[in-house]
Amino acid sequence: MKYIAERTGRHCLSLPSNRLGLYLALRHWCLPGQRLLMSPISADEILFLVLAAGLRPVIAPLSPRDGNIDVSRVDLDAVDAVLTTNLYGLPDDAPAFAGKILIEDVAHALESDLGGRPLGTFGQAGVFSLSKHPGAGSGGVLAVERESDLRALAYARDALLTRGSMLADLWSVVTPMARRTALGLNRVRPALVLSRLLGLQEERQGFRIALRERELRRALKRVPALPPLDPWVRADLHDYRARRGPVVRWYQARRLAEVPRERARRVAGVRLLAGLPTVAPAVRDDLDRPLFRVPLLVRDRDAAVAELERHGVSTGYLYDPPYDDYAPAFTERSPHPGPARWWARHVLPVDPMYAERSLPVLHRLERPADSP
Ligand SMILES: Cc1ncc(COP(=O)(O)O)c(C=O)c1O
Repeated sequence: MKYIAERTGRHCLSLPSNRLGLYLALRHWCLPGQRLLMSPISADEILFLVLAAGLRPVIAPLSPRDGNIDVSRVDLDAVDAVLTTNLYGLPDDAPAFAGKILIEDVAHALESDLGGRPLGTFGQAGVFSLSKHPGAGSGGVLAVERESDLRALAYARDALLTRGSMLADLWSVVTPMARRTALGLNRVRPALVLSRLLGLQEERQGFRIALRERELRRALKRVPALPPLDPWVRADLHDYRARRGPVVRWYQARRLAEVPRERARRVAGVRLLAGLPTVAPAVRDDLDRPLFRVPLLVRDRDAAVAELERHGVSTGYLYDPPYDDYAPAFTERSPHPGPARWWARHVLPVDPMYAERSLPVLHRLERPADSP
């Protein structure tokens, strides 16, 4: 947490997950019924925690340069608050949202700046995830400007924490350790097969979790509240609001301390991938940005994912379809849905830490035949 406190200069609250922090921030700064502008492309659970907070998700048009909100096509007068995604570490145009309640999801953007200022310091709150750059398996940090907000948020967090256990803590440390070892040894395929056999991967319909519309409607009668939405918000992290003990905290601190040491390797990977003709244009805006993933835009994305897996590289963080196609009854639809659909269909996020390993496959990939 020290790293994030120093980087942001903000007061930081430790959490079992980023998603719990986003919920807390939305409840703290927004009122139920308010309209929240958000990207159509983010992790499944984000939409559900917005609904849990009693907010109306207004789906923004997406910029195909970076996969974030296309500010030029947004009517900011029609919304009360904004949630940015900073997809794969590429910055949303946070200054454009000045005057609105702004909550920054910086799960992917732990090391990203905008104009020399760290992401997560533009809005009322920045929420980090320790399972991304640090690879700690789980954990989140909420960074806020004012100590009085921190105190209120800590109180709200404690009211939502469930009981943890030593066994769950050990499991949550052993699994990312095993994943890292498998990655280091280039044994991703057996690790994937094993995790599927052990049921460690959530059942999915395509790339999204099942919506279960009838149950969702029933749960939404009880919002604003998080527990009724647990079955959706937890997605692939069932312990997302479990109290964590010293083993987990030790591992998180250890992994976070590695982040600055891994920076040079990450940036080298970004530079290598930025040379590909398929790279998303905004990646080239700043070749010193240590992205979480480097988005490529490719013709047959799903075939590329399968080919990478054959080469021992697994692809995660695919969010397809956009929220307003996935859950039309629960969102206010984007007035320009085309670019988001195009992006969701074609994006291939590549881990810059393992760029060399992916390159033989990536070199062969072509740009999409159509344009957004
Ligand atoms: C963009 C984004 N935001 C938030 C989250 C949630 O992070 P956590 O697993 O720490 O709750 C994820 C997880 O994949 C994500 O991709």
